[in-house]
Amino acid sequence: SVMGLDPELIEIPSGEAAKSIHTCLEVVERLIQAGADRTSALIALGGGVVGDITGFIASTYMRGIPHIQIPTTLLSQVDSSIGGKTAIDLPTGKNLMGSFHQPKAVFIDLSFLQTLPEREFKSGLAEILKCGIIDDPALFAALESGAAEIARRDVDFLEKIIARTCQIKKGMVEVDETDKGMRRYLNFGHTIGHALEAESEYRLSHGESVSVGMIAAALLSARLNYLPSSEKERIAATVETLGLPHRVPDNSSTEGILSRLKVDKKKVR
Ligand SMILES: NC(=O)c1ccc[n+]([C@@H]2O[C@H](COP(=O)([O-])OP(=O)(O)OC[C@H]3O[C@@H](n4cnc5c(N)ncnc54)[C@H](O)[C@@H]3O)[C@@H](O)[C@H]2O)c1
Ligand SMILES: [Zn+2]
Repeated sequence: SVMGLDPELIEIPSGEAAKSIHTCLEVVERLIQAGADRTSALIALGGGVVGDITGFIASTYMRGIPHIQIPTTLLSQVDSSIGGKTAIDLPTGKNLMGSFHQPKAVFIDLSFLQTLPEREFKSGLAEILKCGIIDDPALFAALESGAAEIARRDVDFLEKIIARTCQIKKGMVEVDETDKGMRRYLNFGHTIGHALEAESEYRLSHGESVSVGMIAAALLSARLNYLPSSEKERIAATVETLGLPHRVPDNSSTEGILSRLKVDKKKVR
């Protein structure tokens, strides 16, 4: 026992497929067997999949127990561990069952990032860039000129951009915990991004899809004269600098993307 605690380790398979009601029930059975009660707490140690499912179970187990997030991917450190959104996927779509349940604490350790595969790392960078674009010119500029630091995963540089991104997300969530107003800025790039992600049958990662989505949104804004086209160019150039895709893959269907836009979860009637 550590510090008089008696932790029980429960592992789940990696990958989005594990964010299911099936895994949920298995974990809950394990909790019951282990004697977890309303004085127990869950610790999510892993990426966003582990974080989302742990938060969801914590919000419903015995009508709700506390949980702590220890995110180990860049995306989960800057995005999914903060804000209290929990969810599991259903066969019909992603994140269709969930709740708002804030973690008691989020502990971010940068050393986890050393083992993260390049593609996962870039996915997280896309969300950091998003925060820079929507809320912080200095963060945007840091990414614009930080290719070298990013390529070598410079710890001091990462600490700055991760901390800043967490502050931005935290600030927006505090003003709008349940996604009705300002928190929706965080959806920048996600409308077209999600449609593209699903249309690619998830061959494009979330961050890759959001990157293209941000450029598409900027392009629309520029066409409607809400955004100077020089800013749209900056966004596209930075996406490219970060090694993220900057255009829709040639084989994707415009009709497919459009029909998916019509069933967007964010849409309100
Ligand atoms: N709740 C929210 O607000 C919110 C926000 C954004 C995304 N999400 C969710 O987060 C999920 C995506 O999270 P993710 O990008 O972290 O993916 P993930 O949890 O699937 O992790 C990606 C991969 O990296 C591995 N991994 C984790 N940490 C590692 C490390 N330190 N070194 C090496 N490998 C490691 C995992 O095993 C997995 O194979 C999605 O389900 C998405 O819906 C939730
Ligand atoms: Zn996202």
